[in-house]
Amino acid sequence: MKTILITGASSGIGRATAELFLEQGWCVGLVARRGEMLEDMAGGLETASPLPADVTDLAQMEAAVAAMVATWGRLDAVFNNAGIFTPQGTIDEIDPEDWHRSLAVNLTGMFNTARVAFAQMRAQEPQGGRIINNGSLSAHNPREGSICYTTTKHGVTGLTKTLALDGRPFGIAAGQIDIGNARTELVDKLNARMEAEGKPLMPMMDVADAARSVLHMANMPASANVLFQTVMATNMPYVGRG
Ligand SMILES: NC(=O)c1ccc[n+]([C@@H]2O[C@H](COP(=O)([O-])OP(=O)(O)OC[C@H]3O[C@@H](n4cnc5c(N)ncnc54)[C@H](OP(=O)(O)O)[C@@H]3O)[C@@H](O)[C@H]2O)c1
Repeated sequence: MKTILITGASSGIGRATAELFLEQGWCVGLVARRGEMLEDMAGGLETASPLPADVTDLAQMEAAVAAMVATWGRLDAVFNNAGIFTPQGTIDEIDPEDWHRSLAVNLTGMFNTARVAFAQMRAQEPQGGRIINNGSLSAHNPREGSICYTTTKHGVTGLTKTLALDGRPFGIAAGQIDIGNARTELVDKLNARMEAEGKPLMPMMDVADAARSVLHMANMPASANVLFQTVMATNMPYVGRG
């Protein structure tokens, strides 16, 4: 059986992905801060391991990977998914604390998770594995008033490309999924704000379709890698020019 660690598994895309991988027979390590939600999800399944941890804390992430390896022997894949979207505004309007929180979760958290996964994948026999980072359409183009989110997600693109390059000698593949408007709490909050401002609601896609796209990436053979995959609500105004 293959093993995957999923961060941000307590809700949204992470949760839908964890549920799909469990259904498909993978052993899944579930990371998020809300441990009770992870316990609830695991429901006593032998193939699910709740690993409550904060991705911003490297020692907690080391312990989470060590616990997975102690249970299942190796780490085949990671879905580096945990992320936050802080209140919108222009650079002079946002709270600098939101900048620091975004950097801590969206970049340092992804760095920590990739670091512990890379070390494990490099050391294990047979060597290798796959790291899938959750970017965003904002990893390439901004949404208005999203300087914290967009800057960190552009950073994720750099993380993915460098991991893909540095992972080659060790059989470690790295790729990125860039999702646009999968219905989760994060996007619902954005839509509520647009509604309050009298703006049209954004087109949405089902979170289960994002999960299926992650599964596709994870199921690639070691010799193939989806470096970037964009999956978005069909009618989003992302492509095109005014
Ligand atoms: N929904 C979309 O359309 C969309 C589009 C592009 C990109 N994304 C990306 O998808 C990822 C998941 O977003 P979502 O839409 O599923 O939002 P969500 O439902 O709010 O999920 C965010 C997840 O991240 C976890 N998390 C946050 N801070 C954490 C921390 N410090 N340590 C550990 N876990 C933490 C949360 O768990 P706890 O609170 O329990 O810790 C939660 O499980 C994010 O990286 C987001 O940028 C989403």
